[in-house]
Amino acid sequence: MSTRSQQPLFDGLTKVEPARRLQGQLSVPGDKSISHRALIFSSLSTGDQRIRGLSCGADVAATAQVLKSLGAPISSFGAGMTVGELPHGAFTAPEGTLDCGNSGTSMRLLAGLLAGQNFSSVLDGDRSLRGRPMARVIDPLRCMGAQVDGRGEGNRAPLYIGGGRLEGIEHFSKVASAQVKSCLLLAGLHAVGTTTIHEPHLSRDHSEVMLRASGVTLHQFSGGVSVEGGQPVHAPAEITVPGDISAAAFFLVAAAILPGSELLIRGVGVNPTRSGILDVLEAAGVAVERRDQRVEAGEAVADLWLCGGEVSAFDIGGALVPRLIDELPVLAVLAARAHGETTISGAAELRAKESDRIESTAQLLRTLGVSVQTRPDGLVIQGTGGAPFVGGTISSAGDHRIAMSAAVAGLASNLGVQIKGSDAISTSFPGFFQQLERCSDR
Ligand code: S3P
Repeated sequence: MSTRSQQPLFDGLTKVEPARRLQGQLSVPGDKSISHRALIFSSLSTGDQRIRGLSCGADVAATAQVLKSLGAPISSFGAGMTVGELPHGAFTAPEGTLDCGNSGTSMRLLAGLLAGQNFSSVLDGDRSLRGRPMARVIDPLRCMGAQVDGRGEGNRAPLYIGGGRLEGIEHFSKVASAQVKSCLLLAGLHAVGTTTIHEPHLSRDHSEVMLRASGVTLHQFSGGVSVEGGQPVHAPAEITVPGDISAAAFFLVAAAILPGSELLIRGVGVNPTRSGILDVLEAAGVAVERRDQRVEAGEAVADLWLCGGEVSAFDIGGALVPRLIDELPVLAVLAARAHGETTISGAAELRAKESDRIESTAQLLRTLGVSVQTRPDGLVIQGTGGAPFVGGTISSAGDHRIAMSAAVAGLASNLGVQIKGSDAISTSFPGFFQQLERCSDR
């Protein structure tokens, strides 16, 4: 299909040339969030679990490596992995620091797991992860009785986790965060009594889905969830991870903004707590057809088909935000090509991601020649009304989702986009450029 390739100029610098349209079929890597949980819950279970379609990115590899350092027998084979039973039914004290790399999900979920163990451990990560807020998990873990600390009064990694006896608490999270919720569910499983988490809006519920499929009784109510401590986890022997809608998002937006595109993305997870992007595409006038809808590992899955054309402006805020939090940078690219003004609000959480995504997204749009204003909790974007972007050189700010959003913009530009720091993409989507190239029609 393609006539020219994206040019890897040298390590970490890639140029994406303009394309006329996207065409064809593709699959995306396994869902990153579900992959972390499949590994963690399997390591807590008896028997062997075989996991198919695990995310191939560095973030999930970091979780696997930490679990191995804690004694979990994890072996890889082909496109899948097996997680065996813990020797003597318990994790063992690690020899060194546990490296979570760039992965906030690894650090926050594993902090919850480690808080209830009978040994101490240290979780660390790269420069970006060391800069991200951890008080949101450290404070409630301390209330449960955990001995935990970190730099900046416990708000920054490296985190010291002195494991021990935990007691259930009722926690009111200020942010709608599945990482906080999952951290406390993991700690709650090892606690005495009931742990209840309230959140301002419903965040992704993959932990709840997988825990229920693993025989754990949860009480889910409007605004929260609670778990009784001491319940065993029996993860299913076979787990198939659906394709990552957050990875599919780049292809969905690229196809939407290139008129004449026709694209099928196979096997994408469309859990309602994650599928906000489909609602936004519809509001922008792009019909995404869900074909062959099915359920895998308790999660809704579908093939997604769409064609490109004109797009209208849209607004995002409130309860919709957690349903598409990771898609906001690429949805900003969609807004930038739309007819009219788009407002994104209620998304201050973007400032606490792998980069400050309000600033890095605004920087990306400005380089493209798009008019954008930042607000403390979002962005206001003036769409070009379908006109191509200028193009230029963009820094990923070390953030995989900014790098992939820049690549999408490059396809819809006059001059192409050169991405500095494109190697950040390996965090979630190794092979991204090859996939993009395969379906780009120039
Ligand atoms: C994730 C939850 C989200 C998301 C992150 C993955 C998860 O973070 O941004 O990429 O797997 O639980 P928050 O829950 O902190 O918003």
